[in-house]
Amino acid sequence: MDYLIQPSALTSGTVTVPGDKSISHRALLLGAIADGSTEIRGFLAGEDCLATLAALQKLGVPIERPDDTTVRVGGVGMHGLHGARDALDLGNSGTGMRLLTGLLCGQAFDSGLTGDDSLAGRPMQRIIEPLSMMGASIASQDGKPPLQIHGGRDLVGIHYTLPVASAQVKSAILLAGLYARGETAIIEPTVTRDHTERMLKAMGANISGDTGHIRIQTTESLKATDLQVPADLSSAAFVILAALIAKDAEVLIANVGVNPTRAGVIEILREMGGDISIENPQLLGEEPVADIRVRSSVLHGISVEPSLVSLAIDEFPILFIAAANAIGTTRFTGIGELRVKESDRIGAMAEGLRRMGIKVDESRDGAEVHYGEAAGTTIDSYGDHRVAMSFAVAATIADAEVRIRNVDAVDTSFPGFSDVLGSLGVELSA
Ligand code: S3P
Repeated sequence: MDYLIQPSALTSGTVTVPGDKSISHRALLLGAIADGSTEIRGFLAGEDCLATLAALQKLGVPIERPDDTTVRVGGVGMHGLHGARDALDLGNSGTGMRLLTGLLCGQAFDSGLTGDDSLAGRPMQRIIEPLSMMGASIASQDGKPPLQIHGGRDLVGIHYTLPVASAQVKSAILLAGLYARGETAIIEPTVTRDHTERMLKAMGANISGDTGHIRIQTTESLKATDLQVPADLSSAAFVILAALIAKDAEVLIANVGVNPTRAGVIEILREMGGDISIENPQLLGEEPVADIRVRSSVLHGISVEPSLVSLAIDEFPILFIAAANAIGTTRFTGIGELRVKESDRIGAMAEGLRRMGIKVDESRDGAEVHYGEAAGTTIDSYGDHRVAMSFAVAATIADAEVRIRNVDAVDTSFPGFSDVLGSLGVELSA
């Protein structure tokens, strides 16, 4: 499927975006091994989370969906999962595969994990190495999926410094750590999203530590806790930028997760001159949420602090679009991880922006993006949801129609994306 987008004057309004992908995954996985029933409200009914949900059903977890965004997980307890007959298909989801591997390597049975072509190219050695140090047995194709996990191993706790800042790797180790003898300690080079730690704490796991240094002990049981998932800041980021670069619009996005380990995009866009205010901050369970008000602004180029990269890791595609609309030059450094996301995001964004007439200089782990007016053209999203949505936002102020190819993956994280943009006056057809 393609998007066809006409240059459009964005109108003011209030929108909601779907639930947080990271938190929805964690709610399913932890709910599955808790004692008792977990009701998840505000669940992201996107393909990634639905793949994880289906995998858990195959592992014997009873799950009901009374409506699209409400999920009832019948927790089977820490040792109540049973082996699935076939390989579990995690589709496009790196989070699903990495976290589930952490959970499954401490089980008594064997498991196979597979995914789509994009997932088949993504690095898994980063989880295989620490999990193997804990005693797990995981076979891969040269460090990539499909994975074969041999169960029935006794895991032992490790003290591990993450070589790459990755919340998925951290979470995989924490999930295995629940089953491991003794203490598992993780040191992060820079802080990454801490949703797993917050949820584990709420469910009674024996987890402690300061930011960047987490410890977990063997855990006998987790207690089921109803969970309300905030709207996903990573999805809100597309609407935020559409409003910032519009001529004259004010948009309110309601009830968005603003966990400080995720909120780097707000800091970066504000430094670029973006008028973004945080209203009604409150706690939704363990997670901070707020309404985000955005007013059209004149952006200017900056050098983005490498320390902010892991706090905005999924927002760089849209930050490339911000950069193209920021007077001067914007420099990104230390973003090499973007090359191993759902696509090579530095390459995909540089290519699409050049097709729009924007000058981009690319290096292995960075890019310089120069201000320019976007021209109508055809762009390949490389099947990457965030690349597709980023160019859809850029297209709203291009000088002519933009076609974005290969956009089906948008449903992995932001079902209803085109309706949300449409409600703000964007002429988008699929
Ligand atoms: C995620 C962590 C990040 C992020 C991904 C979701 C998570 O990946 O890019 O979209 O839910 O833990 P890495 O851990 O690979 O940085």
